[in-house]
Amino acid sequence: MFIEKFRVESPNVRYGEEEIEAVYYYETTELVHEARDGAYQWIVRPKSVRYDFKTQTRVPKLGVMLVGWGGNNGSTLTAGVIANREGISWVTKDKVQQANYFGSLTQASTIRVGSYNGEEIYAPFKNLLPMVNPDDIVFGGWDISNMNLADAMARAKVLDIDLQKQLRPYMESMVPLPGIFDPDFVAANQGARANHVLKGTKVEQVQQIVKDIREFKEKTQVDKVVVLWTANTERYSNVIVGLNDTTENLMASLDKNEAEISPSTLYGIACVLENVPYINGSPQNTFVPGLIDMAIQRNSLIGGDDFKSGQTKMKSVLVDFLVGAGIKPTSIVSYNHLGNNDGMNLSAPQTFRSKEISKSNVVDDMVSSNGILYEPGEHPDHVIVIKYVPYVGDSKRAMDEYTSEIFMGGRSTIVLHNTCEDSLLAAPIILDLVLLAELSSRIQLKAEGEGKFSSFHPVSAILSYLTKAPLVPPGTPVVNALAKQRAMLENILRACVGLSPENNINLEYK
Ligand code: NAI
Repeated sequence: MFIEKFRVESPNVRYGEEEIEAVYYYETTELVHEARDGAYQWIVRPKSVRYDFKTQTRVPKLGVMLVGWGGNNGSTLTAGVIANREGISWVTKDKVQQANYFGSLTQASTIRVGSYNGEEIYAPFKNLLPMVNPDDIVFGGWDISNMNLADAMARAKVLDIDLQKQLRPYMESMVPLPGIFDPDFVAANQGARANHVLKGTKVEQVQQIVKDIREFKEKTQVDKVVVLWTANTERYSNVIVGLNDTTENLMASLDKNEAEISPSTLYGIACVLENVPYINGSPQNTFVPGLIDMAIQRNSLIGGDDFKSGQTKMKSVLVDFLVGAGIKPTSIVSYNHLGNNDGMNLSAPQTFRSKEISKSNVVDDMVSSNGILYEPGEHPDHVIVIKYVPYVGDSKRAMDEYTSEIFMGGRSTIVLHNTCEDSLLAAPIILDLVLLAELSSRIQLKAEGEGKFSSFHPVSAILSYLTKAPLVPPGTPVVNALAKQRAMLENILRACVGLSPENNINLEYK
């Protein structure tokens, strides 16, 4: 059964005027490896740690500035939100289609709240804590192409034509601000699009981005801004001691106009200076050590990298299932072909390499979780191929072959073929990223024994579900398995209203 809303009643929760306060007991374990009876043994000690959570309940007016606003993702997301806000429907060859937010974890998924008379009761994920309604987001941003958003939507060829016609009047006046462009970081074929670029030194470009954020805030009267990179995939920046390894070195390099600071890092510097959350939806190493360092020092939220939309999302489910079932994946081969501008940009070896890296590491945590199947250091063969095929446009094809060893030396081969508009997968993920980044900035926590409340770590691991190569605080394990990532996110939000994690035990029925 589905319910819209619920309220938790417990001595551990207080719904105040401004805040929800919750006490939460974190049941975890402490591991000890020590000599007992002449041999080293692992001792596991369960422990319970009290946490206090405080969530501000006032939902701000949110502004979202996209870097690459006029791209396929940027224009599709903007169009989708306007269509939802305006309640637009359109005629397809099958039916009259209503706007929706399918594919968004926050807007279109549910959580189990309990059972009632033997029936499972579910409520919308978005009603767990007060969240910004995506219909109310004000969009803005930058692009190196000066096309307005209505024309950009037409260029993207993603949405049905009847819908595009209805959206055009809302989007014609939306024109991106000029962006920071450096042809050295993207494929040479992107130059033709770059007719709207900022001039000046790197310091001046960063100053301009800061100014743009301030002016956007002023003009739209939003309370908060989140910036998200959905521009071209860049090549990796070289990480060099003395250049970008610390905040001081990165800022000194900026002053010297060093060539190796990428545009995506420059936007990042501007956001951290302005204390505005910055999320990277592409695979490159925007977050060089110096920028991470600076975000931590200034307690400014950063998150990334690379939207986990289709093939990788599937992989982080399938390999988790196989390894969790005691089956040993030995070869994973992933082919993609796509014909949008992203595909054209990825046809250069250096940008492809960024994507290859972020797609490759995604099974590591699952493989290393099972020492029965894999020797230390052993890995399945894992190959990624991406080809540019203009005809298929945004409708990406992903073909995967998983070969595994099963019982008694047997082989199992699973083949998947997925066809889907890439931007229709990515747009709801962008929405979740900005909504959750905003929400997480309203949550404070305090562990037992700590004197005062603090925010989550500025390197936002709670966004991991939405990214292929989750950026986590230094020294934190990276989790790629999708079910674990979702459980982590849901359980943190449950903790904020004093609910224990979903444990699936259903003891009352045993
Ligand atoms: P796109 O090429 O259609 O859009 C990118 C936009 O960024 C273009 O309009 C371009 O003019 C603009 N741009 C390029 N460099 C810029 C800069 N330095 N400053 C400002 N604007 C700049 O690509 P699409 O399909 O929208 O994808 C965007 C990014 O998202 C790509 O890096 C892609 O790899 C990444 N991504 C997409 C996924 C998907 O499912 N669509 C999944 C995972 C990542």
